[in-house]
Amino acid sequence: MAFSKWIAKKRMPFSAWTFFCLMSLLFGCGAADVLPYKDPSLAIESRVDDLLSRMTLAEKIGQMTQIERSVADPSVMQNYFIGSILSGGGSAPSPFASPSAWADMVDYFQTAALSTRLGIPMIYGIDAVHGHNNVYGATIFPHNIGLGATRDANLVQRIGVATALEVRGTGIPYVFAPCIAVSRDPRWGRCYESYSEDPALVQQMTQIVSGLQGVPPEGYPQGLPYVAGGSNVVACAKHYVGDGGTTGGVDESNTEVSFNELRRIHFPPYYNAIAASVSTIMISYSSWNGVKMSANEFLITTTLKEKLGFQGFTISDWEALERITTPPGSNYSYSVYVALNAGLDMVMVPINYQQFIGLVTDQVSSGFISIDRINDAVRRILRVKFASGLFEHPMADRTLFGMVGNQDHRNLAREAVRKSLVLLKNGKDSSNPALPLNKYVPKILVAGKHANDIGLQCGGWTITWQGSSGNVTVGTTILDGIKNTVSASTQVDYLESPDPGFVANGGYSYAVVVIGEPPYTEMFGDNDNLSIPQDGIVTMQNVCGAVECVVVLISGRPLVVEPYLSVMNAFVAAWLPGSEGQGVADVLFGDYDFQGKLPRTWFKTVDQLPMNVGDDKYNPLFSYNFGLTTGVGKTG
Ligand code: GLC
Repeated sequence: MAFSKWIAKKRMPFSAWTFFCLMSLLFGCGAADVLPYKDPSLAIESRVDDLLSRMTLAEKIGQMTQIERSVADPSVMQNYFIGSILSGGGSAPSPFASPSAWADMVDYFQTAALSTRLGIPMIYGIDAVHGHNNVYGATIFPHNIGLGATRDANLVQRIGVATALEVRGTGIPYVFAPCIAVSRDPRWGRCYESYSEDPALVQQMTQIVSGLQGVPPEGYPQGLPYVAGGSNVVACAKHYVGDGGTTGGVDESNTEVSFNELRRIHFPPYYNAIAASVSTIMISYSSWNGVKMSANEFLITTTLKEKLGFQGFTISDWEALERITTPPGSNYSYSVYVALNAGLDMVMVPINYQQFIGLVTDQVSSGFISIDRINDAVRRILRVKFASGLFEHPMADRTLFGMVGNQDHRNLAREAVRKSLVLLKNGKDSSNPALPLNKYVPKILVAGKHANDIGLQCGGWTITWQGSSGNVTVGTTILDGIKNTVSASTQVDYLESPDPGFVANGGYSYAVVVIGEPPYTEMFGDNDNLSIPQDGIVTMQNVCGAVECVVVLISGRPLVVEPYLSVMNAFVAAWLPGSEGQGVADVLFGDYDFQGKLPRTWFKTVDQLPMNVGDDKYNPLFSYNFGLTTGVGKTG
């Protein structure tokens, strides 16, 4: 049969077949030449099966290895078949690196990964826990405690969408967020990373996963990882499980509760995250009743994977394997053995990767770790990489650079700030409310170093791991916002810590005093006395003793305030609002009304702790869910 007739019989336009055959002849890439795992038309499980069957043990172990960018280079990627790279807190290509500089870095490593025998793309991960917080100029949203105060799950989902766009705007497809800890003690340095002490509220806020990853289609199989497309990212629910329940709030320590209490308080947000098809889950440093989570086969494999049906991959925390033993790293071989057999799939090594890979290789060869365990881990990792589209789109989408810090996202962050503020006192008596403030008075004073410092209002996990004071990124200070809001004829004086005589003789109608905590992250924020730092107390007493004052507290948690309430005309909890300080003024001056409600109990004294809503003995200064309104201004 003539070729043309054969083609016609195939009912395919002659020209298309001609083109296809020509291409095949020229480039040898006929349909038959596309390996199944590289064929996006095939089901993910088929692609995983095919790829897994082609991999050597070294290639499999490489996929389970995540290294920090500081130890990565093309030869490491190629020689060790590294499957993932991360930026630790503050780890950037350079200070003030642009989106294109970030994308260039990620693509540089990706090109090396793709040059390996099977061309498996690496996945680059980063902590984007309140916006894309490592990146200069990115929008910084309120930390989770403030988002919990909003009670607005839709807002939080929109924040997830915006964050995903900004992360993709730097070429990165994976974030170690959200933290869905249920913090039960504000003495914990990570209290602000928790949406609430109430598991039900944390469950609501877990809707951010759908913002980050996209919403799975109706009927999408429960537990399978899902990422909608190139504007979305792989999310990571963390830190499984009970990270917020440690005794005394000591970071990375021991959660001493029954299994029923663990299921009642700390598990519920994971039900929602898995239902939202969260693609990865990070295992907590902490222990449950003395057993390190990273070594807990019952909670990871039996419960999370088998009973709850989680089919994405688990990832360790940074050097969490070393911290299985005391002192850390004293028996790394044992750590590797227990962690991988407990169900860890990817290990955030992230520096000592040669030792890690060597130990895993030896333990597989000697049968201490089964090849079935390795295959399960790699299957889960490949499942996420296929589901995220990484094989089809491994390189940065450079059309998204403009997403980083764009005005729409800053407006969204400003909305979140407005909705996060909680009004705890308004007027020395209810008949004489102090708020909203009058925009049209001749002269006002703004005091306190937290009024004029982007770094302080953003808190930890901002540009650097611990965060810092100063002009650390692009944004609007609370002072800027006040100046933008009052009338043109209103004089605004700012003094970090004025003396009382100056204030008394200044002719001020009122003062706004903005004080609070310094930035901190993780164990560096553990704190047993929860006092307002002394410089803030002095400023508050000097100003509020001389003029009517509104105190705005910038903190990652409730602090001891009862002794000072009497000198305040009004008291506002602003948490850690992030880069858009304008949102504070929007509400102080009545353009918007307060809507925030306490996401956690506000104690009187620290010796009451831990004290959570629902406790039999419950005698707080302000109860969980408390929050006043003024009845003035827009809502929503
Ligand atoms: C940190 C944190 C974890 C973070 C990881 C990577 O120690 O515990 O939340 O995602 O390391 O920075």
